[in-house]
Amino acid sequence: MLTAAPRGTKDILPATVASWRYVEETMRTVSDIYGYGEIRTPIFEHTELFLRGIGDTTDVVEKEMYTFTDRGERSITLRPENTASVVRAYVENKLYAEGTPTKLFYIGPMFRYDRPQAGRMRQFHQFGVEAIGAAPAIIDAEVIVLAADILNKLGLKDLKLLINSVGCPKCRPEHRQKLRNYFHPYLEELCEDCRSRYDRNPLRILDCKQPACKQIAATAPTLDTCLCEECSIHFSELQSLLMAAKLKFELDANLVRGLDYYTKTAFEIQYTPLGAQSALCGGGRYDGLVEQIGGPATPGIGFAMGIERVLLALEKQGSLPFSHNFVDVFIVSTEAKHRDLAFNMMKQFRNLGLKTEIDFIGRSLKAQMKQANRLNARHAIILGDEEVARGKVVLRDMRTSEQNEVNIDGISKLLCKTEVRENE
Ligand code: HAM
Repeated sequence: MLTAAPRGTKDILPATVASWRYVEETMRTVSDIYGYGEIRTPIFEHTELFLRGIGDTTDVVEKEMYTFTDRGERSITLRPENTASVVRAYVENKLYAEGTPTKLFYIGPMFRYDRPQAGRMRQFHQFGVEAIGAAPAIIDAEVIVLAADILNKLGLKDLKLLINSVGCPKCRPEHRQKLRNYFHPYLEELCEDCRSRYDRNPLRILDCKQPACKQIAATAPTLDTCLCEECSIHFSELQSLLMAAKLKFELDANLVRGLDYYTKTAFEIQYTPLGAQSALCGGGRYDGLVEQIGGPATPGIGFAMGIERVLLALEKQGSLPFSHNFVDVFIVSTEAKHRDLAFNMMKQFRNLGLKTEIDFIGRSLKAQMKQANRLNARHAIILGDEEVARGKVVLRDMRTSEQNEVNIDGISKLLCKTEVRENE
């Protein structure tokens, strides 16, 4: 127990960190080009924020939150997503004063008590953006193009962009009524949660993962038949903008998303080879959310991308960059009397920017050479007794096995020259 990480969590080890950095750097670079500034919000928030923001009939709120009472008797929740937090930060810090729209991005861990499987974790990481303050469809298009741009820059193929409009408070009631009429004869067959959703929010039945509910929901009336004029115009403007940007998309009237705050645009980008967890990114518009959590009525749109899933997709496609680990110099020294000299050399080399290693556990000469090989060292510097007495050391090229005696004094310069030559 003590030596196992909690179910649904994972250590990210040095060998994979290079891939994480590559993906995160691409996300940061593209966000910067699109004018989105980074925001870092707390990992935990008052539970009330998520109850109000995400909606109390959603799976996330009903079943997946990590909620606890802190020592001050406050109900606290580890953030299951970051849109509610970003909107809270937007209101609290009056970010609207800095020009509209406020364009923000974030990268960080989120927590959901979900059933773990490939691509579904209890602690997972999201990159996301939120553009708050603009109502026209052109910002929806920018946000979607930004998501696609990141995945394209990472080299992912086989992507599918699905879009839908989930309407607004004007057109939802009609759809809600149609759903109730449709589900009414099936009430007994629906799961307990869905029976309660029937009264509270029947749209959520479309999002249920129970096979029986899924089957019944498959032919439920979709929102596209109920959209009001404003939502229809918004949706067709978005499609026209995406076409102008030459971004292919499919209309999916069943895309309702799992969080309650969405209005009008909803979208997802899937990487189909990932199967069940193919959604790399999902998002949409949330025109009521800012007001819902106590701010001035302000529209907003954003998305979040699961970094673990993006990495799985890149791995599946064989597109992760090859990370080549090496050290420039391994200092081989077996004599206690040369320890200070070896340590000082290492310090000097590192000051010059050379990746330098040494033996820390008293290995034999042979074992130190083996370690130098294991670390993929370009050079070994061997502090032999006799050579050191003459102010020299042996410099070994680990690729060619060529060895030369060199002066201790000039060695830093020599190594730097070699490195420069090799890097040219
Ligand atoms: P979401 O669809 O719940 O949306 O999550 C977005 C993405 O996070 C998913 O498409 C998936 O890639 C990843 N993800 C979600 N849950 C897990 C999990 N348990 N394990 C691994 N990856 C996961 C949101 O979170 C919204 N806040 C997006 C948004 C931003 N909408 C507007 N602005």
